[in-house]
Amino acid sequence: MTTTEKVSGPSTGGEPTPPLRVALLGCGVVGSEVARLLIDSASDLRARVGRPLELVGIAVRRLNRPREGLDAGLFTTDAEGLVSRSGVDLVIEVIGGIEPARSLILSALRHGASVVTANKALLAEDGATLYAAAEQSGVDLYFEAAVAGAIPIVRPLRESLVGDEITSVIGIVNGTTNYILDKMDSQGAGFAETLVDAQALGYAEADPTADVDGFDAAAKAAILASLAFHTRVGAADVYREGISEVTTSDIASAREMGSVVKLLALCELSPAVDGAGPRGVSVRVHPAMIPRSHPLASVTGAYNAVFVESRSAGRLMFYGPGAGGSPTASAVLGDLVTVARNRVRGAAGPGESSYAARPIDPIDDVVTRYHVCLEVADVTGVLATVAACFAEHGVSIQTVRQQGRGTDAQLVVVTHRATDAALSATVRALRTLPSVRDVTSVMRVEGET
Ligand code: HSE
Repeated sequence: MTTTEKVSGPSTGGEPTPPLRVALLGCGVVGSEVARLLIDSASDLRARVGRPLELVGIAVRRLNRPREGLDAGLFTTDAEGLVSRSGVDLVIEVIGGIEPARSLILSALRHGASVVTANKALLAEDGATLYAAAEQSGVDLYFEAAVAGAIPIVRPLRESLVGDEITSVIGIVNGTTNYILDKMDSQGAGFAETLVDAQALGYAEADPTADVDGFDAAAKAAILASLAFHTRVGAADVYREGISEVTTSDIASAREMGSVVKLLALCELSPAVDGAGPRGVSVRVHPAMIPRSHPLASVTGAYNAVFVESRSAGRLMFYGPGAGGSPTASAVLGDLVTVARNRVRGAAGPGESSYAARPIDPIDDVVTRYHVCLEVADVTGVLATVAACFAEHGVSIQTVRQQGRGTDAQLVVVTHRATDAALSATVRALRTLPSVRDVTSVMRVEGET
């Protein structure tokens, strides 16, 4: 029996039910798992959809790699030919990157196929063009796997919570960086050696830039913020800092405060101010200290989690594996069944919702708390001088800790809430003070008011 016959067999009794024809773009870690599930779970998928799903082709870059359990006749290097082939109903894109993924998805949508994609970078860069093409053809564009792997978070934001007002979405959406920061916290190791360790164990890529510098999390933050706030947010709208500057002393200082350092994706609706016009949104990715009592603090290893606050539902936490072939394939298959069901009923799911068109707040205006570490000369009045500098810039101090180091001292200041602009001005001024040797670290403190 061929693969095609196996996944598109007749329904029980009567005429064979015509299958929905599925094209798969990419057969890497996720794609091969999707193909395997399409074949192994064919009869359950057929029962759930109401029609068989027939895998009609798999586009790959090279044909010469053995792919166990998959019919060699399914493979092609002509991806454009596959998506524009007559009668293809559903296209799954798991090749990633901007091109050729964008052209292939647009071609699929224009040829009338619904698309399921895991491509966060493309959605964050050019989601509006994809939505418009889907809308024009009256087909679906689904992308649960683009954010946080297996965790259902796109559909909850896009559908389950669409009647509510979401005020913030805070996520640990990158497993690689969470693994590294967690190891630094639990083993006291430095960033560089932990990264090497993570690479050796397969938790980090040979080129870790997209993860470590926050690009991956920023793309996911843009997608989450767009959905939560009904506003187009692109990757370029996201303020981004990675984790390579996080030191063992930051981690130790967080620990002393009962906190932990995490790379957070923070999507927040600005507070309402009377007469100040529409509320904006801030979207940022950076390392931050959060109290160990916060639900996100308990997310260890390479796991992901997304913490949502909304007006009516209150606080919701979504947690699970954020990457990997099998978990990501679960999200892809969930979308595939949904768009297939829509197809069977001649319906389409939600399109883009960007009616609110909220302004994006510049990072200067974002208000949060800060942990500032300084090396100072241990002389009479240094504390007063430093405190005065914070006060002059309108930044209120919550706590100060001092530790003697010979003739010098280390000061750790935690502030009350202040704007990023005020804190930056304070740090610039601190650096000019004769008694301040250096401002060694500045980190945001999140998760409590
Ligand atoms: N590289 C990502 C991570 C998974 O480490 O979470 C894919 O988005």
